[in-house]
Amino acid sequence: MRRSSLASLAFVTGLAVTASAHAVEVSISCSALGQEYEICKQGVDAWAKKTGNNVKIVSTPNSATERLALYQQLLAANAPDIDVFQIDVVWSGILGQHFTDLTPKAGATIDQNFPSMIETSKVGGKLVAMPWFADAGLLYYRKDLLEKHKKPVPQTWAELSETAKAVQDAERQGGKGDFWGFVWQGRAYEGLTTNALEWIASNNGGTIVDAKGDITVENPKAAEALKLAAGWVGTITPEGALNYTEEESRGVFQAGNALFMRNWPYAWSLAQGGDSAIKDKVGIVPLPKGGADGRNAGTLGGQLLAVSRYSKNVDAATDLVLYLTGPEEQKRRAIQGSFNPTLPALFKDPEVTKANPFMGDLLTVFTNAVARPAAVTGDNYNKVSTEFFNAVHNVLSKKAEPDQALSRLDRDLKRIKRSGW
Ligand code: GLC
Repeated sequence: MRRSSLASLAFVTGLAVTASAHAVEVSISCSALGQEYEICKQGVDAWAKKTGNNVKIVSTPNSATERLALYQQLLAANAPDIDVFQIDVVWSGILGQHFTDLTPKAGATIDQNFPSMIETSKVGGKLVAMPWFADAGLLYYRKDLLEKHKKPVPQTWAELSETAKAVQDAERQGGKGDFWGFVWQGRAYEGLTTNALEWIASNNGGTIVDAKGDITVENPKAAEALKLAAGWVGTITPEGALNYTEEESRGVFQAGNALFMRNWPYAWSLAQGGDSAIKDKVGIVPLPKGGADGRNAGTLGGQLLAVSRYSKNVDAATDLVLYLTGPEEQKRRAIQGSFNPTLPALFKDPEVTKANPFMGDLLTVFTNAVARPAAVTGDNYNKVSTEFFNAVHNVLSKKAEPDQALSRLDRDLKRIKRSGW
């Protein structure tokens, strides 16, 4: 093309040329759990359209533990490949040093969030990420089957075990040979830490490490909780669950092959999807108590968005983070994907609660959720969690007795702690 025609083309499309002259490419890591990838993409595309920038999405492994390992590798190499990282609420302390402080740009939007979500996003006073969505462990159950077998919604884990067994037996006798009572996340990864913390905390067995930093996990209440869970494997829970993450358990439940499932909120909109075998047959309640004097305990989870210090486009990346974590996007994501907002105002939004009745009904599950000891153990958290889920996995796969596993765990955690976290 000759210069003059190039110049006239630029004149005709003047605005677009001006915008694209400053356009940059930003890359973001999104999880691909369930519909997370598609929903992330829709948000990212809307921002790209609005700003004229391009966005590349990097999808990441479904297992939180594998995702962390990938991030650690990239960030340790100061790689500029990913500008915006989707990080877990328990990773701020581990990865925070690699992220920019968002405080100045986030400004007033900070105070619109749940204070607890902002706390988990801070390290040493710096806001290393913005809250994107909140998670808490929930009990999904088949309303139709509890009704059919005349069973109430279980209030304790012991009741859940009994009901699961009775309904499983009856459904199998009725010809559903592959029906199971209860599915959850038993693979040796971060998800097992969240499940096992629920069993233990709900049985008054503490939170592995307490708020002061003392290791508390070796106690009879914790051992009792693990014993009950180990008894599920092979009876009401398939042996295969020892290798399940969130998606494998959802697969079994959504196909109609389980009575109960422990999972995060994202599974709701999928269970209610057009192609779901269990549409309109599912209820959600708080996870059971350890016993009459136990408590309902859902582990606090959730995801944040952080901007890498090694990004070549920190301003655009920050703008993308603020757009994705803003009220309009959080509302859209709540309605389309049942991701719990981190902005309390949206829990009162009629469109959000219509799409997700549990968000209004179970608000206390989210506000009282049990935190993992991430803040107190700082950058040692992943080591602590890894020792914990491996110990629990040994008990579940009958390689160790609960007492023995917890006493070994206590010793290993003390070694990690040494004189302090
Ligand atoms: C979810 C939660 C996260 C948790 C993970 C475990 O992604 O948001 O906090 O660590 O599940 O699998």
